[in-house]
Amino acid sequence: MAEQSLTRNIMKKGVIGVVVGIILVVAARATHFPEVFQFMFFLYAMLGALVFILLDAPTMPRLEGAKAVIGLIIFYAVLSGAYIGGASILPQYDPEDEKGKIDKVLKMRKAMSEQGKAEELIARAKELNDRAASIEKQLQSLGGGAVVVDDAAGSSSGAASGDLVALGKEQWELQECYNCHKLFGQGGKKRGPILDNIGNLMKPEELREKILDPKSWKAEGFDKQYEKGKMPDKYKDLMFKAEVDALVAFLATLKDASVNTPKPIKMK
Ligand code: HEC
Repeated sequence: MAEQSLTRNIMKKGVIGVVVGIILVVAARATHFPEVFQFMFFLYAMLGALVFILLDAPTMPRLEGAKAVIGLIIFYAVLSGAYIGGASILPQYDPEDEKGKIDKVLKMRKAMSEQGKAEELIARAKELNDRAASIEKQLQSLGGGAVVVDDAAGSSSGAASGDLVALGKEQWELQECYNCHKLFGQGGKKRGPILDNIGNLMKPEELREKILDPKSWKAEGFDKQYEKGKMPDKYKDLMFKAEVDALVAFLATLKDASVNTPKPIKMK
């Protein structure tokens, strides 16, 4: 009899916990909390229900002396284990790591403002612009042919365009394209297309379109991701034109035909 009412009590409190959890999730969603938080709120509701359920548990025999100490240590060990285990499931981030990234993003901009004078800023932007334009010209004249950087090395702007490609590679890291796109065998956890051969498939202008407006092109076979807008539409706000130029110059050098990069389809 007592056991029956105990089970009933557990059921009742469990159901209340789930209902409270759902209410919290709905409220968190309505107020645009990120998904991790919604999950956490639900977890808290369940944790609360668990505490209430534990209140009904039969009392333990009283522990004394050494047994009490051991009991306490075990209790702490279990609790710490649960905390550490639980925390390691949740997404981690290292503040130092993030700080490093922000510093890098700001490096170029800081360097610009430390130089102070507006003319210098403008001159620098123009210089980058010209470099990008000259690379684009070289790319167009080469058609889909050889790797451009190597060719450009011979010309007078060679070192400069090499710089631009290096800056572009830095943008690849800073904008975290690698989160979704595998390149040189690395990254792509979130499954966007592998991009090692994109330089053969898209012209620089087209690459620029894709970065500034991800809906402008669709990778073949990625219809669902395209429809869902998986590729973020934020780079036009986050990146300076010179940074986009550099990124495009870098992407244009990716011409590894042995890698099966999906075909881009023009959408608008
Ligand atoms: C959150 C994931 C995500 C991030 C971050 C991301 N992309 Fe994408 N990207 C995708 C997905 C998914 C597709 C395929 C669907 C589509 O074309 O929209 C795609 C497609 C592309 C394509 C077309 C590929 C093809 O074969 O047609 C290019 C080029 C591209 N992304 C470049 C970039 C660059 C450059 C960055 C960084 C500035 C970037 N992406 C960041 C998810 C992402």
